[in-house]
Parts: sequence; C-alpha cells; structure tokens
Amino acid sequence: MKKQTGTKSEELRNFEAAEAAPIFGSVQSREDIIMKKLHKDPVPAELAYRLIKDELMDEGNARQNLATFCQTYMEPEATKLMSETMEKNAIDKSEYPETAELETSCVNILADLWNAPDQDRVMGTSTVGSSEACMLGGMAMKFRWREHAEKNGIDVKAKKPNLVISSGFQVCWEKFCVYWDIEMREVPVDEKHLRINTDVVMDYVDEYTIGIVGILGITYTGKFDDIKVLDELVSEYNRKNNSKLVIHVDGASGAMFVPFVNPELAWDFRLKNVVSINTSGHKYGLVYPGVGWILWKDKKYLPEELIFDVSYLGGHMPTMAINFSRSASQIIGQYYNFYRYGFNGYKEIHERTKEAAMTIAKAVEATGLFDMYNDGENIPIVCYKLKEEADVEWTLYDLADRLQMKGWQVPAYPLPKNLDKVVVQRFVCRADLGQNLADALVRDFNECLDELSKARILYHDKGDIHTHGFTH
Ligand SMILES: Cc1ncc(COP(=O)(O)O)c(C=O)c1O
Repeated sequence: MKKQTGTKSEELRNFEAAEAAPIFGSVQSREDIIMKKLHKDPVPAELAYRLIKDELMDEGNARQNLATFCQTYMEPEATKLMSETMEKNAIDKSEYPETAELETSCVNILADLWNAPDQDRVMGTSTVGSSEACMLGGMAMKFRWREHAEKNGIDVKAKKPNLVISSGFQVCWEKFCVYWDIEMREVPVDEKHLRINTDVVMDYVDEYTIGIVGILGITYTGKFDDIKVLDELVSEYNRKNNSKLVIHVDGASGAMFVPFVNPELAWDFRLKNVVSINTSGHKYGLVYPGVGWILWKDKKYLPEELIFDVSYLGGHMPTMAINFSRSASQIIGQYYNFYRYGFNGYKEIHERTKEAAMTIAKAVEATGLFDMYNDGENIPIVCYKLKEEADVEWTLYDLADRLQMKGWQVPAYPLPKNLDKVVVQRFVCRADLGQNLADALVRDFNECLDELSKARILYHDKGDIHTHGFTH
C-alpha cells in the first residue's frame, strides 16, 4: 500500500497542475463541459467559473428579453445584500427571526398598498412566485367552499367543485385545477371581450363554485379584468342566493404596478368580495426571480387546515406555503426595494417604464400595419396583431426572428381558445428598459420592417400558427 502521509498524492499534483494551467490551455477547455455523470476529480474554482459562464454566454441577453415579466436588473447594493444572505433559509423563522420580521413587514406593506380594511386581520406569506401563491389562494377557496357547502347541506361529493376564470388564464390556474381536482370553467374571450366577459360570467357559477378569479394583467395581452363590475355581480348573486361566493385577484403583474400608477382604480381589498390577492415580487415588485406573495383580507378566509405549525426547527411558527426550504435572499431583496424606493420611488420607476412602453406602442401604431391590443397604458405591455388588410408577405414570426437578430427577444403566439386564429406579438417593458433603450428598440423595429419588406426568403408560412419564443 502506498504511504500518503507527508507526500502529495498524484491527484493533488494533477489538481495543482490544472490550477496553474492557463484557462484556455487547460484539459477542461478542450472538453465538453456538459456532464452525463460526475467526473472523477475536482476542477479548480476559477476554471469551473469561467467555463460554465462561457457555456451560458450565447443564450441571449436577459435585458433584451422582452418576453418575460421577470425582473432583469437590481441595484448592485441589492445584489450584494442578496448574495450575502443566500445561505439563510426562509423557513427557519426561529433561527432567523429578523428575516421573518422583514417578511411580515412586506406583508404589512402589501396589505396597506392593497387597501386592506384592517391590517391586523390580514394573513399573508411570501412564496416562490405567483404560481405557488395562486395554488394557495385556490386551495383556501376550495376548503372554505367545502365548509360552507357542508353547512348548507350540499352533497360535496356529488359533483366536482369548479373555479370560474376567463380563458385568458395563466397556466398556473390550469395546474391548480388539475392538481386539486377542480373543474375549470373558462369564460371565453372574444374580440369584443378580451377580458372576463361580465355579461355572461355569472352563468358559469353554481353552488359548486369555489370562487371566481379576476386577472389584473392578462398574460396574453396585459388587459385587466373589470374586477369592480365582477364584485357587483358577485354581491348581487350572494344577496339573491344567500351564498358567500368570493373573488381571488391574480395580480401577478398588475398588483405591484397599479397601486403606484393608478391608485384610484378599485380592484383590491376595497371591494367587498375580493378576499385574496397574489402577486409576483419578481415582476413589478422589481426583485430577481423567485419571490411571490399572497394575502388574505381576513384570517377567516384562510381555513385553519392550511396553516401548519412547524416546531422541529425550534420554537413554534405557523407556515402556509407549499414549499419548505428556500433562500430568504429574495424576501430580503423585496424588503430592500420597499425600504430603498418608498412609494414615490416605485411610482417614478413605474411611470417611466409606462412612458417607454407608450413610446414603443406609438411607434408600432405609426407604421399603420398593426392593430393594437395594448398600448402600455394600464401596465407597460405592448401587444398587437398584424392588420388583416396589411399588404405584406411576412408574418409576426418572421418579425420575431428579425428582432432576435438584433438581440431582442419578442415572442409571437396565438391568443387563447376561441381567438386562437389570431397571432399577436408582445413586448413586456420592465424597469430596466429606459427611454434610450426604448428608442433603440424602435429604431431596430423599424429597420426590421424595412428589411422584411425587401426580404427574398421568409421562413414562416403565412397560415402557420404556433408559439414562437417563450411567453409566461
Ligand atoms: C396572470 C399571471 N398569473 C400567474 C403567473 C405565474 O407567475 P410566476 O411566474 O410568478 O409563478 C403569471 C406569469 O406570468 C401571470 O401572468
């Protein structure tokens, strides 16, 4: 047997040699870094950093990714704070009580922004994003419905409970319905009703309805459901039927935008039947992914079965998230933004983002080629389709390709069911799309149109409808 004490092992000598080797002269730089199984020996940290970073280099510049609502810029101080707190586990509330305090403070801030009538009665939590928050909101509605239904002598096993929502829903609601065995009743959108059709929505409701979801910022077009009218309809329904139907607002994108830019719009806890709201802190809350929030206006809307008491981390802490462990750094990043920007900081940022979106929308409209679905007025989304009478050879998919050649990632995709013959394109403008970048985008957009009008080879068939680019 070889004696190792006091002498360097061959592995260690190899490792040191690798560490001394120039990065681009190293063995590893000659090999594919994508592994199917672990390689045997460690790789020096600097080499690993460089090679993995390089691997990720050609996948597009996040700042030019206008497909996503998710934040792509935070201040260096926020990033520093977040990277210095990544090791804190958000669930260890007894171990990190100050972090838990910041989370509670964020819930209080949101309760205030969303006009909760009594802050002391609000319940809320951070989540990984809106998807988890929607699951929690949906489950609370389901449990609450079952309790009331049983009290009222309804046979809860006779039929599946249902959820009423516009067909412009985000996929997380479909997941919720599949995972929790709920019938999803979709109120179809049409050209006249690109948001929930309040003329017919109540036809979808019956005594098995756990609730109605109003969307503040439909993912496809950025349009807002008319939650005030929905609330009136629900009040009338409850009066006539002696029932307790409720509304959950999916404010993934709008709930952190509207309170700053259009505080008069009544969509939140001011409305009687709105009992819970979710949002994505990583969208217009201006935090990197993933953080979301859900709040219930009153404890009574969050059934006790959904609150778990965790004692094995030391102390007793109620928790209501689906997820268990995750880094607290996103919550800390959210708190940093709230503390740093204050109300007026958010307002300034959002108003400027809205101006950038409206600049882009005007330029798109000025070409005379497009019908606008959203001009950036409610949330900073620009969404349009090609005019039916537009005399062009190319499609929005070709335009998406052209824009991508200039680095801009802008999806083209069909609208939801019933309108799925209509292909739209959408720019999601975020805080880091300043006026200069918006002007550059407009220049590139016009150049792309010019290039397309002269192009000899177009790739996408005019009749072909599919999703091009990532939309979420
Ligand atoms: C209306 C709506 N709800 C829910 C979600 C899911 O959000 P998250 O990505 O935070 O899970 C989105 C995402 O775009 C959305 O637009």
